[in-house]
Amino acid sequence: MEFSIKSGSPDKAKCDCVAVGVFDSRKLSAPAQRLDKASGGFLTGILRRGDMEGKNGSTLLLHGTPGIAAGRVLLVGLGKEAEFGEKAYRDAVAATVRALKDTGSRNVLVTLSELPVARRNAAWRVRQAALAVHDTLYRSDQLKSKKDPDGAKPVLDGIAFSMAGKDARSAAVALVQGVAIAQGMNMTRELGNLPANICTPTYLAQQAQKLAREFKLECSVLDRTRMEKLGMGSLLSVARGSHQPPRFIVLQYHGGKARAKPVVLVGKGITFDTGGISLKPGAEMDEMKYDMSGAASVLGTFRALAAMKLPLNVVGLIPTTENMPGGAATRPGDIVTSMSGQTIEILNTDAEGRLILCDALTYAERFEPDCVVDIATLTGACVIALGAVASGLMANNDGLADELLEAGQVSGDRAWQLPLWEDYQEMLKSNFADIPNISGSRAAGTITAACFLARFTKKYRWAHLDIAGTAWRSGKEKGSTGRPVPLLTHFLLKRAGKL
Ligand code: BES
Ligand code: MN
Ligand code: ZN
Repeated sequence: MEFSIKSGSPDKAKCDCVAVGVFDSRKLSAPAQRLDKASGGFLTGILRRGDMEGKNGSTLLLHGTPGIAAGRVLLVGLGKEAEFGEKAYRDAVAATVRALKDTGSRNVLVTLSELPVARRNAAWRVRQAALAVHDTLYRSDQLKSKKDPDGAKPVLDGIAFSMAGKDARSAAVALVQGVAIAQGMNMTRELGNLPANICTPTYLAQQAQKLAREFKLECSVLDRTRMEKLGMGSLLSVARGSHQPPRFIVLQYHGGKARAKPVVLVGKGITFDTGGISLKPGAEMDEMKYDMSGAASVLGTFRALAAMKLPLNVVGLIPTTENMPGGAATRPGDIVTSMSGQTIEILNTDAEGRLILCDALTYAERFEPDCVVDIATLTGACVIALGAVASGLMANNDGLADELLEAGQVSGDRAWQLPLWEDYQEMLKSNFADIPNISGSRAAGTITAACFLARFTKKYRWAHLDIAGTAWRSGKEKGSTGRPVPLLTHFLLKRAGKL
């Protein structure tokens, strides 16, 4: 898809289609009024006949509108003008693309980008529009033997967003950002959707190295022997049941001043979570291929960050392994020693995410980080608490939590904070080791998982994103969402002074 920014009158635009918004009920948006005028009231006539009320998400395609250079005009419902906000804006852009992708239009001028959205500027509108377009057009056909079963190749390949002259410059910058973020999300989605027989720890490491070559990042991959030398006994205890060798990926992006402390992103990379000896039930177990979504979001964020050349230093850490049962697998009750020196009683081998993250969090100390953010499909309890709408956020520092919450708001990839009060730490007690890997009770499962991680993050500012509910969709629309790449990239953009 080729994106561009255009200023000028939509009635004169030489393209296959001009998309204009209509508010509920039957009120033309400003760009639509311009077309209406140029067409001698043609659009007003259509509305009067009752074919387009302006309900959000509805569309009406018109051919051969008099006085308009483009062969087609697409009317797009925006919903009630008083309620036209961030969601309605995104939904309207998505509806535009859905309506046009199966028509003969190649090049389209979308004028929705001119519509004011409360509290958001032109750059926001363009960034969000680019994301909404990519999101709507994304299809996972990497493993289909025929790419387009209906023989219907999508023809839509050029979208211009119209913008008033004064906003054109900031819009152009935002467009580059939006495309970079969308491509990062696509990488995350492709990796997430790959099955575990292809997307192994070794494969993830290869993808990281490929990304590093393409974008001139530093990348090293530690194997089992190196991890043993570092004392990563907790991470390695998860890998014991698997025939796939574990990997520990270290990515470094040096875009900032040499002395500037890095942001460290840590992604859970369980390429398949059977639960181990604490085996999961069979229903929907295939979805546990998505248990590396945290890792995939770190890779996607690095792709976006490097494409945008942000002036920051960022480190990515990805502990990756399968969690399998087997003769050598860790048993419930086994006690292991983490890299931090703390001993862990593994009471449930299905609480494996925290076991691989804790060693990565200890490893993070060597970078003297400004802050550390881990991203993990960590608890089913988070799906119960927040569903598919918000990621769970917990932190040992309120300033960092606020930055991430704000990044979620602005990007539309929202997170919601849960408390990490000391009181919850009492739920993690072991009779035999320093700490158990699960609490004795199912209560507050998302928080007690974070409490476990908090025992390993005392030396720096740290936040934890539980993306168990947001990283993929289940059911008929099953597939990776690419979240929380928008949140993470906006967090970094803001830190780089680019928002
Ligand atoms: N990867 C799962 C969490 C998960 C489950 C994410 C379902 C999305 C959907 C994680 O490793 C896990 O199994 N967590 C356990 C922890 C429990 C044993 C304390 C859980 O949530 O059931
Ligand atoms: Mn598990
Ligand atoms: Zn897991």
